[in-house]
Amino acid sequence: MNFLGRDIISMNDLTREEINYILSRVPEVQNHPNKASLCNDKVSAMLFFEPSTRTRTSFEVAMRNLGGKIGGFYDANITSTVKEESLWDTVKMHDGYGFDVIVIRHPLKGAARVAAEAADIPVINAGDGPNQHPTQTLLDLYSIRETQGRLDGISIAMVGDLVNGRTVHSLTEALLKYENCRLIFISPRDLAMPRSIIDKCARASIDRGVTFVEAGRIEDHIGQVDVLYMTRIQMERLQERALAEKFRSIYRLEASMLSDAKPNMKIMHPLPRVTEIAQDVDETQYAYYFQQAKNGLLVRETLLALILGAIT
Ligand code: CP
Repeated sequence: MNFLGRDIISMNDLTREEINYILSRVPEVQNHPNKASLCNDKVSAMLFFEPSTRTRTSFEVAMRNLGGKIGGFYDANITSTVKEESLWDTVKMHDGYGFDVIVIRHPLKGAARVAAEAADIPVINAGDGPNQHPTQTLLDLYSIRETQGRLDGISIAMVGDLVNGRTVHSLTEALLKYENCRLIFISPRDLAMPRSIIDKCARASIDRGVTFVEAGRIEDHIGQVDVLYMTRIQMERLQERALAEKFRSIYRLEASMLSDAKPNMKIMHPLPRVTEIAQDVDETQYAYYFQQAKNGLLVRETLLALILGAIT
């Protein structure tokens, strides 16, 4: 399997075997005797048109940990985007300045795909609007496998803004490649999982024994799942202010709600959290979200090492 120069735009572009391969290479990169120089002389262009804490910082640290460098921008308002330069031209410029890879976050669905078409160098999607967040999904899958020992047969509840949350879209599409998973989508009706993804779940139920259900309350499902995947309401993507305010605090997980949880159940969250996980949950055996975010560094180091040809 060869990832040299490969774009990572959508989980739909990766096979189950390719996902497993990426995850399986994590220990090698972590224990590599020359880890600190694996990506010597390589430079990543960070094109962030949307705010980020984890994705930005972990990609930066990953690149530095491998001996590489970073450039680019984290605030499009100080670039010529404000002079109406197109995304295509912005990407073209960075493609021509000697960078080796582009990591792009953008508020528009499909922007990362456009960037990949514009650039000759590989492009990694760090989140394109409500569409996809494939590197988050790779770290989510790594975290699920680390805690549950498998990806087949996982029972997972995804909670929150399922219409606008790119992490739940990517994660669902990835889990549909595995066998016999049970997916529980918990949201208000207005924020339900897009029909296109529900249709894919229906197809996977025939092909791979996936079962799925759409529900409204967390409490009814906590005792059944291996993973409780909480997400925030994506206030920045909700057009109607009244709708945003109505749903802002609709879900709130508290430690007292976890008495029926399976002993090894893990609570995950792509973060940032707002009000959907109370701080008293942090002290329980179920909280895994901060470790999950730390796992992102390991997975992103591995992905960069593969794409930049430091390992094969
Ligand atoms: N999970 C995630 O994408 O976090 P950031 O928005 O902070 O990068």
